[in-house]
Amino acid sequence: MIDHPRLEEKLIHRALSERGIRAGILNVTSVPLPLDGLRIAEVALIRTVGMFRGVRAAAVLESMGVRTINSSSTILRCGDKVLTYSILHGAGLPIPRSLLALGREAVLRAHAQFSGPAVDKPPLGSWGRMVSLVRSSEMASQIAEARELMPSSVRGHIIQEYVETGGRDIRCLVLGDRLLGCMERSAARGWKSNVALGGKVRALEVTDEMEELSLRAARAVEGEFVAIDILSNGELLVNEVNGIPEFKGFMRATGIDVAGELASHVREVLRS
Ligand SMILES: Nc1ncnc2c1ncn2[C@@H]1O[C@H](COP(=O)(O)OP(=O)(O)OP(=O)(O)O)[C@@H](O)[C@H]1O
Ligand SMILES: [Mg+2]
Repeated sequence: MIDHPRLEEKLIHRALSERGIRAGILNVTSVPLPLDGLRIAEVALIRTVGMFRGVRAAAVLESMGVRTINSSSTILRCGDKVLTYSILHGAGLPIPRSLLALGREAVLRAHAQFSGPAVDKPPLGSWGRMVSLVRSSEMASQIAEARELMPSSVRGHIIQEYVETGGRDIRCLVLGDRLLGCMERSAARGWKSNVALGGKVRALEVTDEMEELSLRAARAVEGEFVAIDILSNGELLVNEVNGIPEFKGFMRATGIDVAGELASHVREVLRS
């Protein structure tokens, strides 16, 4: 299931074919899915860029009895950072100190609880967009005002401690109950390490702590193929879980054949 074809989907398709698995690519922006249809596949890898497209396509397929990777509920849990943090915290995992603020007054009060600068991010978002480092209550108020004009999906605020990471974060990929590996992303400039913003990647030696945290986070959201992003200032904190992970940069940095691993995992699922 895709919306915009990317390199990852081509690699997955090829890896499936190489393993003798008959696979097709279905673009949900051009093909309608019947809400009362019969099962169209045994397994579907949900690979949309749009989070809600993924949630909805997966839900429709699940109603037909298709095994989705990831499931609609996992994609939703990961796609909304408020849901993710709540689930992670509930499962006893460490996250950055965060407050949910759902209106301008709450935003200002939330900021007042931090002595230094705080990070303001919308519940939904990607590639570092609308993630701001806020240094004054005036700036917080301006962000809240601008956000009120935006669609409801990004109107809330997560106000969060700024973790002194030196502009780096750790991304670990989990498949099934296994950690595939971890890489480090470092910001080209500034403090946001997103690859989409020019961040550089390199392979990281996996520590027991990274492995334990990643596997526990994946389990908490019931993820089958997820990326766990970790911030470190000495202590490791889970910053987010991605339910439809991109992995081109990860393959390049680590040399791990993620598409091949995913295709082998699908083969196991089909056999079981
Ligand atoms: N609390 C924080 N302290 C320090 N740096 C942070 C913090 N939150 C986010 N960052 C930095 O900003 C980047 C973007 O933030 P975040 O990952 O939360 O949102 P996003 O990248 O837009 O979402 P997605 O990864 O789903 O696309 C992170 O990769 C990290 O480098
Ligand atoms: Mg991110």
